[in-house]
Amino acid sequence: MERLRVTGGASLRGEVRVAGAKNSALKLMAASLLAEGSTVLHDVPPITDVKYMSGVLRWLGANVRRDGGTVTVEVPEAIGHSAPYSLVRRLRASICVLGPLLARRGAADVALPGGDAIGSRGLGMHLAGLEKLGADVSVVHGLVVARAPNGLTGANIWLDFPSVGATENLLMAATLAQGTTVIDNVAREPEIVDICRMLVRMGAKIDGIGSSTLRIEGVQGLSPAEHTTVPDRIVAGTWAIAAVMTRGDVTVANGRADHLEIVLDKLSYAGATVDTADEGLRVAMSDRPDAVDVVTLPYPGFPTDLQPMVVALNAVAVGTAMVTENVYEARFMFVNELARLGADVRTDGHHAVARGRPTLSAAPVVAPDIRAGAGLVLAGLVAEGETLVSGVHHIDRGYPDFVGQLNALGAEVVREPDPDHFEA
Ligand code: EPU
Repeated sequence: MERLRVTGGASLRGEVRVAGAKNSALKLMAASLLAEGSTVLHDVPPITDVKYMSGVLRWLGANVRRDGGTVTVEVPEAIGHSAPYSLVRRLRASICVLGPLLARRGAADVALPGGDAIGSRGLGMHLAGLEKLGADVSVVHGLVVARAPNGLTGANIWLDFPSVGATENLLMAATLAQGTTVIDNVAREPEIVDICRMLVRMGAKIDGIGSSTLRIEGVQGLSPAEHTTVPDRIVAGTWAIAAVMTRGDVTVANGRADHLEIVLDKLSYAGATVDTADEGLRVAMSDRPDAVDVVTLPYPGFPTDLQPMVVALNAVAVGTAMVTENVYEARFMFVNELARLGADVRTDGHHAVARGRPTLSAAPVVAPDIRAGAGLVLAGLVAEGETLVSGVHHIDRGYPDFVGQLNALGAEVVREPDPDHFEA
């Protein structure tokens, strides 16, 4: 186990490039199971979650190769249908093999990926939707067991909430169902649009891409495709917030401003100068930022995955602001760690009120998940002294070469063994 030693005080300056989005690449890899042959995915980020997903696909019989940013998934005609807990427990995204396996094999046994340190993360909408498509679905001994021996059949599905994962699973399953499926109240995240585009390249018939209603005309079979992953808006947003907190000037190459509109608007409100162009975005800040109220919501609302970073920003901003978390019930747990750095943040249910302080003071903290980990590192960048962030393996799940990129922008961050870590 390793930790990060973050020396506070540097302003981040320079250019950083964002790779493809974790939350798209993992699903594009799952989607490759829908077609026999070689699917080629470009700009897949070098993160541990991609390794874990590769492990799941290999277990199912696929051959997965990485060459630079390109991942090739060779899918045989006969693929497996079960993904055991030992493989899927590491990442929630592995549940997204459920839809493709059921569609291709008529059978899927996928272990429940388990909870995360951010909330309960139910699967009810995935399972109810697959039942509507004609599958027989049960949860037995920690496995989702789904069967559709005669194939899936198109249906009308209404999601209670625009769940990203449920939208993806049902969308992928519906591509090979008999007849038409209409899914209403779907998630509209850019990663969903990316998966739809890849499925269309594979031969799927999908209308309403990017809207709240997807209409999928089932086809007999799909072909493998070549596709470039959409840039990671959460990593891009993390750099943008880091620039503001450290009063720096960062150009985020390959960052899509059109996927970060509400985030960049909040940063402008905080006092930042934001320049957007086709090839990236630039965020600069000279003074202490003003605190900003934020409400997290499904896209195009403010992303919950940038909530810890904005709470960290408010902790060093001028004024008081409230952040409301509407997606996960337990995503404020990291606030206790932020308090160890001297932040004045109080939570009440799904609200966190921060009274900004001129500075924070370094301390050892523990990253409980990917995004809170990144938020704690940003807080460490503006704390006086050396902040030790344990649990860096969480950050590695979603941020390619975070330390290298931070240091390239002028930060002082060292990765080192964590002598305090012990396995319980
Ligand atoms: N939910 C249910 N039942 C369901 C599905 C979802 O109750 O059947 C609830 C969840 O418990 C959660 C909320 O709905 O409270 C949102 O869940 P959603 O299904 O939208 O999220 P997800 O697919 O599990 C993806 C990302 C998350 C990101 C969310 C929201 C991946 C692998 N994960 O999760 O990313 O926060 O969408 O945008 O795509 C991260 O990258 O750090 C991360 C947590």
